[in-house]
Amino acid sequence: MIKNLKRLTFILVLLFVTIVATACNSNGDGDSKSNKNKIDVGIVLPTKDEPRWVQDEQRFKDALKDSKYSTEILFSQGSSAKEKENVESLLNKGIKVLIITPQDGAAAGAAVEAAKKEGVTVIAYDRLITNTDAVDYYVTFDSLAVGAAQAQYLIDNANGSNVPLYLYAGAASDNNAFLFFEGAWKVLQPKIADGTFKIANSSEAEKLKDTAELSRDQLSKIIGQVTTNWDPNKAKNKAQTHLTAAKADLKGDVAILAPNDGTARSIADVFSTDKAVKSFVVTGQDAEKASIQYIIDGKQSMTVFKDVRTLVTDAMGVAVEVLDGKTPETTGSYDNGSVEVKAKQTDVIVVNKDNVKKELIDSAYYEASEFNGLE
Ligand code: BGC
Repeated sequence: MIKNLKRLTFILVLLFVTIVATACNSNGDGDSKSNKNKIDVGIVLPTKDEPRWVQDEQRFKDALKDSKYSTEILFSQGSSAKEKENVESLLNKGIKVLIITPQDGAAAGAAVEAAKKEGVTVIAYDRLITNTDAVDYYVTFDSLAVGAAQAQYLIDNANGSNVPLYLYAGAASDNNAFLFFEGAWKVLQPKIADGTFKIANSSEAEKLKDTAELSRDQLSKIIGQVTTNWDPNKAKNKAQTHLTAAKADLKGDVAILAPNDGTARSIADVFSTDKAVKSFVVTGQDAEKASIQYIIDGKQSMTVFKDVRTLVTDAMGVAVEVLDGKTPETTGSYDNGSVEVKAKQTDVIVVNKDNVKKELIDSAYYEASEFNGLE
């Protein structure tokens, strides 16, 4: 009996040791697994619903193929709450650097402050995060130049005087929408004042037509009235409403300041179905494939090409410098309402029918086979 008891005890001890050993082992595995899951750089982009950001995702993937650092890209799908969740999930994976394009520049403050608390370096990508000191770097295109280029294009292609001018803007929650409009207004305003253009669709802009430099509040008033919210459907509805209200003297040959390609295409579609609109010049931005086809087909006048490859290289360059313990080089700074954020800025290129091949095909940004009718 005693012998049996001893044997049983021995077996139980053996079993216990085996279980503990297995548990330790799987713990070890678990650790190495979670190490494998560790991410160095987290990237959060605003939405997959716009080709612009899917393009950025692809360019990041291309650039990251040979990187020694691990990365993960998440999309916020137009929701600041989802954006915060994305940042938290990346923080749980131990990121050291966060590259983020905010859905809403002010609302993103909370997410980046959480990242900052964990010692993460925050890089605002393309859109500035406002009213927080938790942003370390900003990599961006020259957004004032984007608006200025759109405005200059309308001026260069306007004939005579009193050309009806339809103004549209991006989302008021996006700091870029202010920069684009500010840049455009500075160039357009003297031409509104001298009678080249007459404003067709904004009483707020009309009230301010003699003011060359608009304050943030004044910009807010106009943007509030002509915003598309970066939504092609909203842009379409607004354009329809504007054309329904417009009398004959606001039709004929018209000029349209459209803030980006997605909204430009839907606004162009509306204007092209109004028989009283004889011709229109419409701007854009992003060099989206669909808009390049529109430009080739003569349905959109121009786009502002922002070479996303450069922005990705700059953002990853800053990230890698930080991870390597170096200080990234910057070229200027942006006031985000709370601090001066060190910035790296890239130039933009105006593209129309005449140079589309040179700028987009010869530079290997797109392939000629992706378009029809390209000469
Ligand atoms: C970007 C544009 C883009 C727009 C809508 C802006 O912040 O700079 O390239 O078209 O957002 O997503």
